Amino acid sequence: MADAAITVEGARKTFGGKHALDGLDLTVTRGTVHGVLGPNGAGKTTLVRILSTLLRPDAGRVEVAGHDVVREAYAVRLRIGLLGQHAALDEELGGRQNLELFGRLHHLGARRARARADELLERFELSGTGPKAVKQYSGGMRRRLDLAASLITEPEVLFLDEPTTGLDPRGRAEVWDSVRSLVGGGTTVLLTTQYLEEADQLADRICLVDAGRVVADGTADTLKAAIGGDRIDVVLRDAGQLGAAVALLPVAKDAVTVDTDRRLLSAPVIDRMAALTGVVRALEEAGIEAEDIALRRPTLDEVFLRLTGHDDRTTEAA
Ligand SMILES: Nc1ncnc2c1ncn2[C@@H]1O[C@H](COP(=O)(O)OP(=O)(O)OP(=O)(O)O)[C@@H](O)[C@H]1O
Ligand SMILES: [Mg+2]
Repeated sequence: MADAAITVEGARKTFGGKHALDGLDLTVTRGTVHGVLGPNGAGKTTLVRILSTLLRPDAGRVEVAGHDVVREAYAVRLRIGLLGQHAALDEELGGRQNLELFGRLHHLGARRARARADELLERFELSGTGPKAVKQYSGGMRRRLDLAASLITEPEVLFLDEPTTGLDPRGRAEVWDSVRSLVGGGTTVLLTTQYLEEADQLADRICLVDAGRVVADGTADTLKAAIGGDRIDVVLRDAGQLGAAVALLPVAKDAVTVDTDRRLLSAPVIDRMAALTGVVRALEEAGIEAEDIALRRPTLDEVFLRLTGHDDRTTEAA
């Protein structure tokens, strides 16, 4: 596809008999953010390492920015940036020094390396850090500097492997802002994350990866719709009545999830208004008191748990 920045077809990678990637397919359109969402060990980092030519696939076709990652690895490297799960900054140096060093490592001349460092410090709001050593940076500042470093060469395609893991909410928001501003500049971003909210916030399209395969692919909205549209949440006054409530609600029993701590049960609904009035009436007739009843869209969490089968919060009360 001409407008694809990344094409992956049937990628496989095995480590000592274990499939890290097990026939993974993926297409990422130029100028978009693609979220790769998956639990620990799903194969996210393996995918990023293959896409960034650090690792060869055992099988499959993998192209980045129009070049094959195995046969044209050098051409790919010229066009990509990588923010690894574990970053490679020099702790003793300041932000500017780190960026200049990266520039020199990428064969920019001294003058261009300095100019590029200034530009990126400005862009990531790090200009005020002066000579302060990176080891004194906050988590958010450090990650923004990582991001700046990965952009030294103005890559066409940028890989971010769990860019906000370990950051507090403020640091996370700072990184999100930076990623959003990148895409405005036309960069294609592939980002891995374990945070559903992050994929929801940043990504145009999301694929869910489990055990080295894509188990679902779409926009946040289509993925949410895929597990049955809206849901109804009911919070009871008395957790002891959750079982009784599940039994009498006019919804499919096997799709109800129960959270005893929050005295909450949640179920997919087909007709919003019919479900709402039906639930209110059924509870009233049974003398079960509800504290709150709400209709809502499913969260990506629910989509993920449903599609990967790792949902262990199913109908214990039923
Ligand atoms: N170099 C390696 N040698 C052996 N096994 C590996 C290697 N790299 C990855 N694996 C295995 O491959 C599987 C996928 O690992 P990968 O690091 O790609 O997962 P991940 O989705 O990035 O997980 P996390 O969210 O923890 O970063 C895991 O079972 C992992 O143990
Ligand atoms: Mg990883």
